[in-house]
Amino acid sequence: MKSKHWIVGNWKMNGSRQAVQQWLAEWQLGCNKLTASASRLEILVCPPAIYLPFFAEQITTNNISRLKLVGQNVSAYLQGAYTGELSAAMLQDYQCSHVLIGHSERRQLFAETDEVVAQKVATAQAQGLRPILCVGETQAQREQQATESVVTAQLDSVLKRIGAEKLAQAIIAYEPIWAIGTGLSATPEQAQAVHASIRAWLGNKRVGFTPLLYGGSVSPDNAAAVLRQPDIDGVLVGGASLVADSFLKICAVLT
Ligand code: PGA
Repeated sequence: MKSKHWIVGNWKMNGSRQAVQQWLAEWQLGCNKLTASASRLEILVCPPAIYLPFFAEQITTNNISRLKLVGQNVSAYLQGAYTGELSAAMLQDYQCSHVLIGHSERRQLFAETDEVVAQKVATAQAQGLRPILCVGETQAQREQQATESVVTAQLDSVLKRIGAEKLAQAIIAYEPIWAIGTGLSATPEQAQAVHASIRAWLGNKRVGFTPLLYGGSVSPDNAAAVLRQPDIDGVLVGGASLVADSFLKICAVLT
């Protein structure tokens, strides 16, 4: 039996100030109903960066205790002439404890290479943020039976940069690109198979226990089956996290 599960909501570039207010009001009402076993859940949310101060303020003033804040991205650099970027220290100023790094949308749409991703993980950790490192294959790579080699290559570039001890302090999210935002979730068995191979790879590399999350069209309907898989320690939820009620339902599936 797993001692803990991670439920992470990734809003991507969605929402508004009004939507944040409504979401938090609904969250606050609903989270009181999460049962005692939910105490073994770590619940995190990644709003667009511009709403982080508002989230942080609402969490403090309304005493919203269960939510941890996550940046969706972070600069590989500490500070300086990097227009449009946010540093790890800036995220921490607004209560972020974690940061997503290497989401497939960053890799595919913003040309983040394995090297940049590894650099960001190193910087985030050095500054005290816990990275949620995203990896995953495209549909074409899956069809070529390259899933395992693609995912382990993505992990290996980070391992080479930061070493086994540090990699064990990260969280890894396996997100098959073909399952993101498509409604076409990997089956729990497909996800488990990749998680088992990641677990084995980490073992071979002498990386200690690292939480492994699954992401890709997770919903209140499939979350329980996914979370029951032996090597799946949590879920990274995009679309279904935008509505407080469905995010709460996912948080409640194991309780
Ligand atoms: P999705 O997104 O749940 O909407 O598929 C997941 C993610 O990209 O993190």
